[in-house]
Amino acid sequence: MSEPTKYIEIQGVEQTFKTRKGNFPALRDIHLNVAKGEFITLIGHSGCGKSTLLNLIAGLTTPTAGVLLCADREIAGPGPERAVVFQNHSLLPWLTCFENVYLAVERVFGANENKAQLKARTEAALALVGLTPAAQKRPGEISGGMKQRVGIARALSMEPKVLLMDEPFGALDALTRAKLQDELLEIVARTRSTVVMVTHDVDEAVLLSDRIVMLTNGPAATIGEVLSVELPRPRYRVALADDPAYQSARKAVIDFLYTRQAHVEKVA
Ligand SMILES: Nc1ncnc2c1ncn2[C@@H]1O[C@H](COP(=O)(O)OP(=O)(O)OP(=O)(O)O)[C@@H](O)[C@H]1O
Ligand SMILES: [Mg+2]
Repeated sequence: MSEPTKYIEIQGVEQTFKTRKGNFPALRDIHLNVAKGEFITLIGHSGCGKSTLLNLIAGLTTPTAGVLLCADREIAGPGPERAVVFQNHSLLPWLTCFENVYLAVERVFGANENKAQLKARTEAALALVGLTPAAQKRPGEISGGMKQRVGIARALSMEPKVLLMDEPFGALDALTRAKLQDELLEIVARTRSTVVMVTHDVDEAVLLSDRIVMLTNGPAATIGEVLSVELPRPRYRVALADDPAYQSARKAVIDFLYTRQAHVEKVA
C-alpha cells in the first residue's frame, strides 16, 4: 500500500465566532488525520460544532487557529475535489433539478467535455438517487427528501476526491434513508472517495464508517473519542444486526453520547 495515511490533516484547529455577545468558542484543539479512501463520520449532540468542522474542511470558513491540509496543500477555499452536501440542501430555487446538477457538472467537466457528455453525467447522477422523474421540477415543487437527494446527486456528479456530507439523509424517511445508505456504500467502494459525513444516527455511523469521530458538547467542543469500526466490507445491514462487533461499536457510541456527553439543553 503506497497510499498516504494522511490525506486530510487537521492540526490544532480552533474556531471562535464573533457574536454580538462577544466571542463564542465553538471548536478547540481539533487534531484529526483522514486517510485516502477512509469513511469518517462526525457524531455529537446538536450545536456541538459538526457543521463548523465540515465547513472548515470544505474551505468555506477559515479557522481562528491551526491549519487544515488536503493532499499536503493548505485548504484555502472551496475546490472541486471537495464536494459538499449541505445540511439544508441549498439548491438554486429558480433552476430545475436537472439544471442544479448540470451547473456543478459543467463547472468541473465543462472545459474538457461536450454538452452531450455533460448531459449524460447529469442524468446518471439523478438516476443514481432515483430522481429521473423529477428532473424537470424546481426545488419548490418537490419534497424535502427529494431536495436532499438532488444535493447528493450534485455532489456525486462532480466525482470529488473528498465527499463532505452534512446530515445528508436527515430529512429522509427510514426506507429511502436505508436505500441511499446502501447506494452510498456501493458508490464509495467503486469510486474510492474519501468521505467525511456528519450524522446524528448511531446505526448509520456504524454501518458506514471506518472510524467514528465523537465530539464533546460545546462550547469549545473537541474530539472526545475516535472509534474504529472493525467490520469487514462489503457490509450488509441485515446480517450486521446480529453481529457482536456491530453491537459493541453501537454500544460504545451510545455510551459516549448518552452517558458521558449527556446533552444538557442550555437556554441563553
Ligand atoms: N457563524 C456563526 N456565528 C456565531 N456562532 C455560530 C456560527 N456558526 C455556528 N455557530 C455556533 O457554533 C456552535 C456549533 O454550531 P454547528 O452548526 O457547527 O453545530 P452542529 O453540531 O452542526 O449542530 P446541528 O447538529 O444542530 O446541526 C453552535 O453553538 C452555533 O450556535
Ligand atoms: Mg449542523
